Parts: sequence; structure tokens; C-alpha cells
Amino acid sequence: MAADLEGKVWDALRAVRYPGMSRDIVSFGFVRALELDGGTVTCTLEMSTHNPDNAEQVRAASEDAIRDVEGVTAVEVRLHVQAPQKRDPAPKVSQSPDLLPNVHSVVAVASGKGGVGKSTVSANLAVSLARQGLRVGLLDADIYGPSMPTMFGIHERPQTDGQVAIPFEKYGVKIMSLGFVLDVDTPVIWRGPMVMKALEQLLGEVAWGELDFLIVDLPPGTGDAQLTLTQRVPLSAAVIVTTPQDVALVDARKGLAMFQKVKVPVAGIVENMSGFTCPCCGETIDIFKRGGGQRTAEVLGTPFLGAIPLDPAIVEGGDAGEPIVVREDAGAHVEAFGSLANAVRTAVAERETPKLTIA
Ligand SMILES: Nc1ncnc2c1ncn2[C@@H]1O[C@H](COP(=O)(O)OP(=O)(O)OP(=O)(O)O)[C@@H](O)[C@H]1O
Ligand SMILES: [Mg+2]
Repeated sequence: MAADLEGKVWDALRAVRYPGMSRDIVSFGFVRALELDGGTVTCTLEMSTHNPDNAEQVRAASEDAIRDVEGVTAVEVRLHVQAPQKRDPAPKVSQSPDLLPNVHSVVAVASGKGGVGKSTVSANLAVSLARQGLRVGLLDADIYGPSMPTMFGIHERPQTDGQVAIPFEKYGVKIMSLGFVLDVDTPVIWRGPMVMKALEQLLGEVAWGELDFLIVDLPPGTGDAQLTLTQRVPLSAAVIVTTPQDVALVDARKGLAMFQKVKVPVAGIVENMSGFTCPCCGETIDIFKRGGGQRTAEVLGTPFLGAIPLDPAIVEGGDAGEPIVVREDAGAHVEAFGSLANAVRTAVAERETPKLTIA
């Protein structure tokens, strides 16, 4: 009977949504504890948000929902709002700091799941940073399917200069990819140690020179391979790419948790494939909805870095070896990626401790 009542209370909570989201608070993992003593229900909610009013709305809605369950005689819903992820000054958190001594900031581009546009964002972010006058490298660390050879139209093997490989340079960006060293026709089972060896070579045995930013395009997901990569690459910050749907929140949360585990600060969330503007009538259609990235950032207590529109021209550019910010000199995409580049620079700069200068 008690179990029956508990099931009904969980069902009632599953009908409560976070303001502006279509997913329920149970699937978001906000319900931390539920205790029943006869008809008396005590529920504890825990969430991290910049918006305490929204959290209070969720608390009140949960209390109402539980009170309406038949058999419930008294209800208390407790709310713990955690401070959003603390933005401590934490510059390079690095397990292998000596791998890239001349690179000022290494920024990973990651996502909880595949196909959301990490490589597209990495390529266009790198070119946009270079256009802002910075020295930029791009490391394609996607062990499952390196994209940069296609996205930059480079299909040769890198030259070596004695002991180190010379990165390719295109559109102002130095580029190195696992795709340049993998034999595409031979399927390779990349076991952990082999991957790490290859990656360490791409980091340490490449003539990157002095760089302001090295952008690292990570493989999709948050499994062991990704976790190990984030541990081995000396990351300054991570950018998480998501699509606008509410379901993407779950994946973005996984991405955030992975970086928290390895103590890498998350610079923020980018919403990709956000709104499609019809070239015929100019109307904007939100194919995958819109605003999920911003709400996700709010719920997870991390900055929102901006939205990139959905546009077939982005696919064409990627397939033709010409990132969209190279294809189009100006316009919405150039602006969107330019403002993303600014947001990343700001987020990284905010996390840096002032360097001591010895006169
Ligand atoms: N804003 C956009 N508008 C239209 N198409 C896009 C956009 N962003 C990415 N794409 C396209 O979506 C596909 C997947 O993008 P991309 O390869 O960048 O994703 P990914 O997250 O790196 O994928 P994977 O997980 O396989 O590495 C590509 O064909 C790309 O051109
Ligand atoms: Mg990719």
C-alpha cells in the first residue's frame, strides 16, 4: 500500500516541469529524496540555478502536485538551491603540463552526444579567433571519426622536421588531426594506450610554436575514452555544444559532470542548429526549437556563450573544406562565431590568475 502511494507521488512529481522546459523534474534528477511516513510525505529537491524564483516555483508546484495525490495527508517539500558552478580563478588544470609549454590556453570543444556540431564549432571558432589576430591551433582529437581533414580540405600526411611534425596551416590556423596519421582504409581498433600514445604525439611532438589558443575537438560522448583525453590534455577550459531541444539538457549535464570530475572549468554552453531562416521568405523557423541551450546553461549554472543558426551553407562549407566563416566574408554566421570567439576569450580570461611579473 505504502509502495503504491510512493509510486503515485513519483508519478505526480513526473508531471512537474522546470519553468520553460518540457522535461519533468524527476528526469532532470532534481528530486534528491522522497520519504513517506503513512500519509505524510517529505520531499527534497536539489538544483543549481541562477534563478531562485524558478526553483521556488518548482518547489511550490511539487508541493501542490503531491498534496493532490489521494492518500497524502501532509506534505513538505524542501528546496536546496546550490550556488551555480563556482567560477574560481583556475587557469590551467593540467595533468600533463609539459606537453604544451608554449600554448597559453587549451580549450576543448565537447558534447554529451554525437552529431551536434562540435567539429563545425571547433573549426569556425578557431578561424574566428585567428581573424581576431590571435595565434591559433586546432587539434582534432576525435578518435572515432576525425573531421578536420574534410573540414579544411587537407588530405596529405604532415611533414616532419627531424623529430617533430609540422602542423598544416590554413585560414590562419595551425591544424593537426588524428585523421592525418590514421590510415582511412584500415579500420583500427583504438585501444586506450594506443589512443593516448597517438594523442601525446599530436600534442607534444608537433611544432605548434607559440599559440594563444589551441582548440581541441573531442570525440562525442562522456565515456572512459573522453574522460582519459580530458585528463591527458592540459585543458584551460571546455566549451559544451548542444542542440536546442530540451532532451539535450541531459547530455549537456553529462558533459559538465565529466569536466567537473577532472576539474576543468566549463567556459559555457553553445546552442548549435538554432533557428533556420528561410532564404525565400526570410521567416525564421525553429526546427529543433530554440532557447534550450540558454535554459540548459541557466539550469546547470554555467554561462551561455551564444547560438549558431541552422543553415545548409554550413554543411556545404564543412564538406568543401571551407568553414562557413571563410566562405562568407560577413553576415550572420561570421557574427555568431565572432561573438562566440569573444565569449570564449572572456570566459578564459576571467578564469586566469594574474601572472606575476618579475622586473
Ligand atoms: N549550424 C549548422 N547548420 C547546419 N548544419 C550543421 C550545423 N552545424 C553542424 N552541421 C552539420 O551537421 C553535421 C554534424 O556536424 P559535426 O560533424 O560538426 O558534428 P560533431 O558533433 O562533430 O559530430 P561527431 O559527434 O560525429 O564528431 C555535419 O554535416 C555539419 O556540417
Ligand atoms: Mg566531430
